[in-house]
Amino acid sequence: MQPEIHEITRKQRTWQNRKEMALIPYDATVAQGLQKFHQSLASFSFASHSIHIKQNWKQLGVAAVAVVLCTYLEMGAVNLQGRSVIELGAGTGLVGIVAALLGAHVTITDRQVALEFLESNIQANLPTTLQHKVVVKELTWGHNLGNFSPDAFDLIVGSDIIYLEETFLDLLQTLEHLSLEQTLILLSCRIRYARDWDFLKMLKARFTVVEVHYDPNTDVHIFQAQKITLKEEL
Ligand SMILES: C[S@@+](CC[C@H](N)C(=O)[O-])C[C@H]1O[C@@H](n2cnc3c(N)ncnc32)[C@H](O)[C@@H]1O
Repeated sequence: MQPEIHEITRKQRTWQNRKEMALIPYDATVAQGLQKFHQSLASFSFASHSIHIKQNWKQLGVAAVAVVLCTYLEMGAVNLQGRSVIELGAGTGLVGIVAALLGAHVTITDRQVALEFLESNIQANLPTTLQHKVVVKELTWGHNLGNFSPDAFDLIVGSDIIYLEETFLDLLQTLEHLSLEQTLILLSCRIRYARDWDFLKMLKARFTVVEVHYDPNTDVHIFQAQKITLKEEL
């Protein structure tokens, strides 16, 4: 068995164990905690601000995957002060909003269909003094990438964007286009299907990928990636 495949099989087994462990014993407080993700308005506290996110659970809801990434950013894992950040597949915009509250200039992106909803969450949650720090733009992965300059961003963030196999190549192309050797990428995800590991394998062919955080309560991983330099390749 090739080492790469062996590693994936082992990780899947570990994840399966974690899932099973998370199912028992039943904990009522966990169920109550999860209920807030099904409401049309979800409230959070990050960077000393209350954030109220409008959501439509069936279409664009705030999932724990985004909350774990926000918590990681709030912990100061990456210095965001004055940094330029782009969020991919932003959905409700929670991660981008928190990055702006933590001092970053943020370009929050998603497909055209999601932008109106995204704009309204940003307007409702960013103090007017910070609104100028956020730009909302359409970015459909793999399309019109020339609208985004590769040297414009210090950090690329994405939560729960590794889930549609048909978008994997476009997403990878987008990450490659947007990043220079020094650009950091933070992706939070819950590994739901074996194919999700396939994306990480594709990512590892072009980027150095490290798991920097795992939250056992929500089964959410955060991976940090950075473009492999020519020197590393030689
Ligand atoms: C599961 S949601 C995650 C939303 C948000 N990041 C979160 O964690 O709450 C996936 C997001 O990716 C976006 N998306 C899916 N396919 C896309 C594509 N081809 N290009 C850009 N965004 C895409 C969706 O519109 C959606 O907002």
